[in-house]
Amino acid sequence: MQTYVTLNDGNKIPQFGLGVYMVPEGAAAREACLSALKTGVRHIDTAHAYQNERSVGEAVRESGIPREEIWTTSKLWPSEYGEGKTAEAIDKMLGRSGTEYIDLLLLHQQFGDYIGAWRDMEKAVSGGKIKSIGISNFESERLEEICEAAMIKPSVLQVECHPYYQQAALKKRLAGYGTKIEAWYPLGHGDAGLIEELLFTDLAKKYGKSNVQIILRWHIQEGTIVFPKTTNPEHLKANFDIFDFELSDGEMKKIRSLDRGIRFFNMTLEEQERMLGGFKPAD
Ligand SMILES: NC(=O)c1ccc[n+]([C@@H]2O[C@H](COP(=O)([O-])OP(=O)(O)OC[C@H]3O[C@@H](n4cnc5c(N)ncnc54)[C@H](OP(=O)(O)O)[C@@H]3O)[C@@H](O)[C@H]2O)c1
Repeated sequence: MQTYVTLNDGNKIPQFGLGVYMVPEGAAAREACLSALKTGVRHIDTAHAYQNERSVGEAVRESGIPREEIWTTSKLWPSEYGEGKTAEAIDKMLGRSGTEYIDLLLLHQQFGDYIGAWRDMEKAVSGGKIKSIGISNFESERLEEICEAAMIKPSVLQVECHPYYQQAALKKRLAGYGTKIEAWYPLGHGDAGLIEELLFTDLAKKYGKSNVQIILRWHIQEGTIVFPKTTNPEHLKANFDIFDFELSDGEMKKIRSLDRGIRFFNMTLEEQERMLGGFKPAD
């Protein structure tokens, strides 16, 4: 049985989802989502910047599954941050997705007028357009700035998180706000060195699972929300088949000891602002 995480606003998010970063709009994104929904997955993570929200929305509608049983997450890009501007951007996003509401809306990056954007996101919650709101990539002191300014505290913080970069310090910073960690790059973006770690191979043999399944099961038992990306239906089925076994406390501890402070995405905040600040996703 798949698991749910209760957020600080009381909403329950399916702990396992499908991420569609770098999955092209059109047949690829639609089929990846439909295949996931058919397999039983009830959570899809997209973003305006991924330029595939239309296909995600189509799959949600085509699936025939009641809308309230599916959790959709999308993210606003900084080019649409600011009071007034973000309200319009939310309406455009609902139009692209072809849905009356989005379950979770995140600020994708920690630069631009994120405080103004947050105000409009809070209003969108009151207006019933968005169920939960959260942030992504806020790891600098801007994390505390937005959490302190927020009337509705962020329900999640989506960041790079995997056995080589476990985010223990960040979890402590979030504890007072009740904000949960969502992992991006849960499989290290498919890094072979991480996936082939000897410890995972040993545990995979013990449980009759694959190394990837061991990593995903570890995330689940850590309480982290995950949405590994895959366009391979076999990978998808395997990734979701992690709810019939449990790692022991000792095994969880051994995996925790693999934390090496290794990120697969290395850009300082200044570099991110310089590289990504000029980007404006198409409507
Ligand atoms: N907020 C942000 O700034 C941010 C940044 C990055 C990512 N994200 C989110 O996080 C999601 C996941 O991150 P990600 O997609 O980059 O990295 P990931 O999920 O860690 O890794 C994806 C890679 O792992 C492979 N893979 C998946 N299942 C596998 C399996 N069972 N066996 C072997 N290989 C497998 C995939 O290949 P196949 O397709 O061939 O299976 C793909 O190459 C994204 O889709 C997105 O939703 C958010």
